[in-house]
Order: sequence, then structure tokens, then C-alpha cells
Amino acid sequence: MKTLTIIKPDDWHLHLREGVVLKNIIHFTSDYFGRAIVMPNTKAPITSIDKAIAYKKFISEALPKSSKFEPLMTIYLTDETDKGELINGFKNNVFFAAKLYPANATTNSSLGVKKIENLYEIFELMQESGMPLLIHGEVTDSEVDIFDREEVFIDRELQPIIKSFPKLKIVLEHITTSYAVDFVQENNIGATITPHHLHINRNAMFFGGLNSDFYCLPVAKRENNRLALRKAATSGKECFFLGTDSAPHLRKWKAFCGCAGIFNAPVAIESYLTVFEEENALDNFEKFASLNGPHFYNLSPNKEKLKLVSRSNKVVEFINVLEEKDIVGQIKPFHAGEILKWQVEGIFN
Ligand code: NCD
Ligand code: ZN
Repeated sequence: MKTLTIIKPDDWHLHLREGVVLKNIIHFTSDYFGRAIVMPNTKAPITSIDKAIAYKKFISEALPKSSKFEPLMTIYLTDETDKGELINGFKNNVFFAAKLYPANATTNSSLGVKKIENLYEIFELMQESGMPLLIHGEVTDSEVDIFDREEVFIDRELQPIIKSFPKLKIVLEHITTSYAVDFVQENNIGATITPHHLHINRNAMFFGGLNSDFYCLPVAKRENNRLALRKAATSGKECFFLGTDSAPHLRKWKAFCGCAGIFNAPVAIESYLTVFEEENALDNFEKFASLNGPHFYNLSPNKEKLKLVSRSNKVVEFINVLEEKDIVGQIKPFHAGEILKWQVEGIFN
């Protein structure tokens, strides 16, 4: 039986939601990850210091007792974001970073940014103070084909931002194209890569009928892009790091509106590891999962270790969401019903 021991990982892009869903799902992340950057696209988005403090308190109360997990909070940028609020929140360690959603790019982003140039004064301040900018990199222009939206965003919006603010710390989140892979490396920015974009290409959404289980944003692209992402993630290069983009939606909502988002937290580590093994790159897994992210964000790696064992691991079909003892919904995890070859054994010092 093969084993692998790595420094405890962090998740640099995570959706925790609120209420009963948060209470039911948080342990999937907090059990094995040291920290996570928590996305601010709650139903009423996290647009102020007060909201971030309240959300963090809610998260902390939902954590299993004695958990050392650290949620890193973000502010949701809008056209009305107040500069003082943003910088005060960053300087007082309420906000770890700011998240830019172009308006209507994805789930709960209708209050996002309509005109990115309007944020340039804010970017100036962020650059000065070292506050990271996390970007959902897709244009929302209906004339642009959905499969081209990342590339067009890079050319139309990201290039000019980098040109105007060369020292701004930028992460292009959940990249999905070989174009983004190249751009990130050439422009000295960071990028998160999800487990699902390493496993599926766009065919998955259309296999056996229209299948919203594999619908997320940015949508998975053609196979050549998946292969480029696998190469990037497993390369060990410092600019690429783990960000699951785990995004739970109750089954009933997924079935009803086909909302975008894949819930991978219960299997994220094993899912990534499968890819690293297939690419003969197990030696680089610790860099991607536990070292490159802290290096990018100027943080120390976690102290504890995570042990992984290569053994058959059947993924459940559904995860029940319980309120008291009643099932109020179900969420389908990524890899549902599949047998993965790796399993997390546990955390130790
Ligand atoms: C995310 C969600 O559901 O909040 N959905 C997704 O498809 N990734 C939002 C996001 O990161 O785009
Ligand atoms: Zn996300």
C-alpha cells in the first residue's frame, strides 16, 4: 500500500454558503485544510467590514469543536465599493483579499462590477497596500461565446489592469484554458486550478443528456485545455496553486435551475491526487497543495501533516443536508458513485 505525507494543504478558493448548508458542509474542508479563502458571493454579498465580521463569526460557530481551521475573508467588489472600507478592512485583518466578479458572470454576482475601469482608484490603493485582487476572469458580454469568455476577459480587461498596476497582486481564479495557463506564467500573477477542470472537459455536460452536475463557471472547455491545466497544476510551478472552487448547490436547485457550481470538498484532495498520480507527478503534489499558495500570499506553510493512503475509496452518491435530524436537502459531490484510488488517512503533528 502506497502512502504519501505532505504538509497540511490550504484551499485558496472556496464557497461555504450560509445557514444549514454551511453547517453541514464545512467539516469537509476544515477536517483536512489549514486555511481557506472564503468567497463573498453569499445571497446578500459580503460588501462591508460588518458583514465580513458577522459571516466569519457564523463560520467559526459552525466549525467542529477544537478545529484550528482559519477562514480568510474577502470583500465583494461592486461599483459602489468604498475605498476607506476596503483599505481599513484590509489593514485591520478583516479582509484577506478583494474579489472581483464581473456583474452576472456567475452565481450570486448580479451586484458585481459593471465597469471595471471604475475600480482603478481602488486597484491603485490595493497595489500600494499589498491587498490581493482575486478575479473571476470572464466577460459577460452576450455577444461573446461562453467558451471564449475567459480568453476575451484576459485580453480586454486583465491585460490593461496588469499594465496599469504592475505591482498589484493578482490571482486569476479557476483557470480553464491553455491561454490562461500561458498568460499567468508570462505575467507574473497567480492562478488557482480546480479538481474538476483537471478531470472533465466540456463533453461531460452533455453526456447521457444535459447534465448540470458538471456545469460550473467558467465552463469546462475542450480537451486540449484540460491537458494544459493538468500539465500546469502538476508542474510544481509556484504560480499555480490549489483552489477547489467547491460550490455546493442543493440537488433540488441544481435540477430546477441548473445553477453553476460543483461540490468537490468531500473528495477534493483525493481527486487532485488521482491526477498527480496519473501524470507521474506525486512529488509535486505538496507544492501545489501546501506550498505555492502560502508562498504567493507571503504566509508560512501549515505546521501539521496530512497522510494519504492509496486504497479503494468509494464516493457516496449524495450528501444529506440535515437540520436537527431532518433531511432538508441533498447535494451531489463530484465523483459521486466513482471509486477513487486514494484516501485521506488523517492529520498529525
Ligand atoms: C460558484 C458558486 O456557485 O458560487 N459557481 C461556479 O460555478 N464556480 C461561483 C464561481 O466561482 O463562479
Ligand atoms: Zn468560485
